[in-house]
This record gives sequence, structure tokens and C-alpha cells, in this order.
Amino acid sequence: MSNSIIITGGSQLIGNVTVSGAKNSALPLLFATLLTDKACILKNVPDIEDISVTIRLLKHCGANVVFSDHELRVQTKNITNVEASYALVKKLRASFWLLGPLLARTGEARIALPGGDAIGTRPVDIHLKGLTALGADIRLQNGMVVAKASQGLHGARIVLDFPSVGATHNLLMAASLIEGDTILENAAREPEIVELCLFLKRMGATIEGIGSSSISIHGKRTLGSGKCTVIGDRIEAATYLAACAVTGGQIMVEGITPQALGKTLDVLAEAGCIIKLKDHGINIQSSGELSAVSFETAPSPGLATDVQPILMAMLTKSSGTSIIKENVFENRYGHVAEYRRLGADIEIDDRMAVVRGVSFLTGAPVEAGDIRAAAGLVLMGLGARGETTVHEIFHLERGYENMVQKLSDLGAQIRYGAAYEDRDLIFGC
Ligand code: UD1
Repeated sequence: MSNSIIITGGSQLIGNVTVSGAKNSALPLLFATLLTDKACILKNVPDIEDISVTIRLLKHCGANVVFSDHELRVQTKNITNVEASYALVKKLRASFWLLGPLLARTGEARIALPGGDAIGTRPVDIHLKGLTALGADIRLQNGMVVAKASQGLHGARIVLDFPSVGATHNLLMAASLIEGDTILENAAREPEIVELCLFLKRMGATIEGIGSSSISIHGKRTLGSGKCTVIGDRIEAATYLAACAVTGGQIMVEGITPQALGKTLDVLAEAGCIIKLKDHGINIQSSGELSAVSFETAPSPGLATDVQPILMAMLTKSSGTSIIKENVFENRYGHVAEYRRLGADIEIDDRMAVVRGVSFLTGAPVEAGDIRAAAGLVLMGLGARGETTVHEIFHLERGYENMVQKLSDLGAQIRYGAAYEDRDLIFGC
């Protein structure tokens, strides 16, 4: 596998691009299939690394999985393993979302505590508090969360301290297999939560308040099969839109419901792009001359934290000063040091970032630290003078299907490259 992407900046993006199924929607849907012994079918599943890891996890738990041509068939007649080691959880943070389904289906789960990562400390206290309220006995042993519900789980009213996406997924899944009523207050409202609710309903749970911050779940002792088509990836769509904004040009991003992009479209329009919404996608036209825009991230319906590194990358090449405030993760500016290597002028003060737009960026070798930072570096490379090599692109491959091909089809000069040359000669001190 290649380990870098080489971009020669300066080409305008023109044409049509279709986004893949949303990674962040497919993941909880896959974990939800563990709630039933019946066969489930998911369509439009992206063929990306995070899905491969999830398939391995499901098989590890006893699932029979067939994945072909973006269609995934899963059946878990019996759960044969209720433990996910640190090695697995480290590969994919969302493996922690096994906790709810395994506990509800078998009365037991042992999942490694995830720990922090490149964007924050990312505790799991809200997941654990919620599952405890549902009757689980939870202990921490040797870095593992050991959860038991030998007498079964029961419904409860749970007020989440923060509308955590993962905790809402975990609690929705557990509550759907409880014969009783659960109410989640201050629940997350992201489109991926709505999709999980609809899937659980199709499996047999009764769910009300879908899309609101107060969700009522009346579960069943057994759930049936579920079928669905994964929605288009709103973060991937935002990435191509922002890329076109930087390079100039005109592209049509298809396979996405425009409403899913929410406030991201407002930022693009304020930056000077012409946005036209169609039934099946979004058309963007940009001169490449962008204005500064200030924004802050927030849980849905606010501006998604996942687009912050992408919009910041776009705004590095603009006229004026943009002020950004990151309200979801306490440490989501790890990408800034690499953005500076391409010529960006960014100052960080706690959760605020001051981006002073520059008139041009200059290509350089850079290193991706997480998935959205990697996307930001690619789009800065597209808008930079000269050649940019983005290293450690396995981060990108976790969540973007065929990005190099898709950008190349839009006219970008982009190709895969090797890993660092002479890597062995790099010494630390
Ligand atoms: C999911 C998304 C991620 C996105 C994030 C916020 C997937 C696979 N990942 O991550 O791309 O950036 O939502 O939209 O869908 N928190 C706690 N205690 C908890 C849980 C969370 O304090 O028990 C905090 C986190 O540290 C963070 C904030 O809540 O500061 C949001 O986290 P959360 O919504 O849980 O994000 P994830 O589900 O991990």
C-alpha cells in the first residue's frame, strides 16, 4: 500500500463527483446488526479501512459477514465472543460501540477503555453512566470495561451530560433490546443518529422523537432483520466542496442530501462561493478568491467539528482574518503545525484559532495526524504552488473511498507516492 499522496497544485476542479456512503453512519448500523440473530442487509457501504476493521470485529464476535460491491450481509446467529481487546479498540475507537449491543444481547461485554487520541482525551463516562442507569454493573479491570447485566437490563430516563454521538448510539442500541421504556434527554441529533433510529425501528423497536434531543425507545426482547441504504457522507461532500472553493472551478457533488451539510454551506457561501442545491446533490462554483469567514463548531444542528480542519484549510488561502472556535473537542488543532508548513498563518489560543488568510500557499512535504487533518492537507496541496507530499495517508484511507481517483477525475494533479524516502536515516533525539 502507498503511504503518501503527491499533489501538484494549481489545477481547477471541474466535473461531477459522487460521495460514498457515510462512514459514521455505516459503523453504528453494522454494530446494531449484533442485536439480532436474523440476517441484515446494508447497501451503499463504503469500501474503506474502518469498515474492514469493523467487519473483522463483527466476525470476532461470531457474525457471518459477506461484503461485496458495497452491499453487506451480516448474520450473527450466536455471539461467540464478548471481548474486544485494546489492540482492536486502538485500531477503531468506535469499537467501543460494541458495548451496548453485546451487553443487551448476552448480558456481558468486556471492551478495552479507548483512551485519548490526536483530537482529545475522549472519555467514555457518558456511555458508562447511561448503561449503568439501564441496570448494568460496570467495573474497570486491567484497562478493560467489564459490564454485566446478569438479571437483564431495564428501561430508564437518562439525561446525557453532553450530546455525545457515540454514547447516544450505544444507549439507543442497548435500549432497543430492552422490553421497557427508555428516554434519552440531551441526545445527539446528528443525521447518523437519525439513520440508526430508523434502522432500529425497522428491526422492531418503537422509537419516538427521532431527530430531536429527547428520544423515547420502547424496545423488544428480540429484534428482527434490518435493511437499509447508508446515507451519503456529508463530511466527504464538504471536503470536495471546500477543495473546489480553494482551487476555483465548478463541480457537482452527488449522492448527498444538501440539508445534511447544514451550516457548512453557509460558510462556503460567505467565503464567496456560489452554491446551488439540487435534489441529488450540490453544485459549487468558485473563482478561487475567497473571503475570510468566522465560525464555531457545535453538536448538530451546529457546524460539525469534523469539517473544522477542512474549512480551516480552505480559509488559510483567503483575504482577511477568520476566527474559529472549536467547541466539541478540546484539542482539535493538531493539524495547525502541518498547515503552517504549507505557508498558513494561524495562531491558536486555547479553543480559538485566528487564521490570517495568505494570498498563496507553497507546496511542501507534510504529515497527516488524523483523518480530517489529512483531508485538509490534501485540499491545501491542491491550492498550493508547487508540489505537496502528504505522508501517513492511512488516516485518509480510514474514511475516504477512492479520493485520489475522484479528485483526479475532477482535474486535480494527484497521485499516490511511496512512504518516506530514507526513513531509516531519520533520527530523533
Ligand atoms: C463521533 C464521530 C466523530 C465526530 C464526533 C463529534 C464517528 C465514528 N465519530 O465521535 O467523527 O467528530 O462524533 O461529532 O461517528 N465525551 C465525553 N464523555 C463521553 C463521550 C464523549 O466527555 O462519554 C466528549 C468527547 O470527549 C468530545 C465530545 O464529548 O469532547 C463529543 O464526543 P462524541 O460526540 O462522543 O464523539 P464520538 O462519538 O467519539
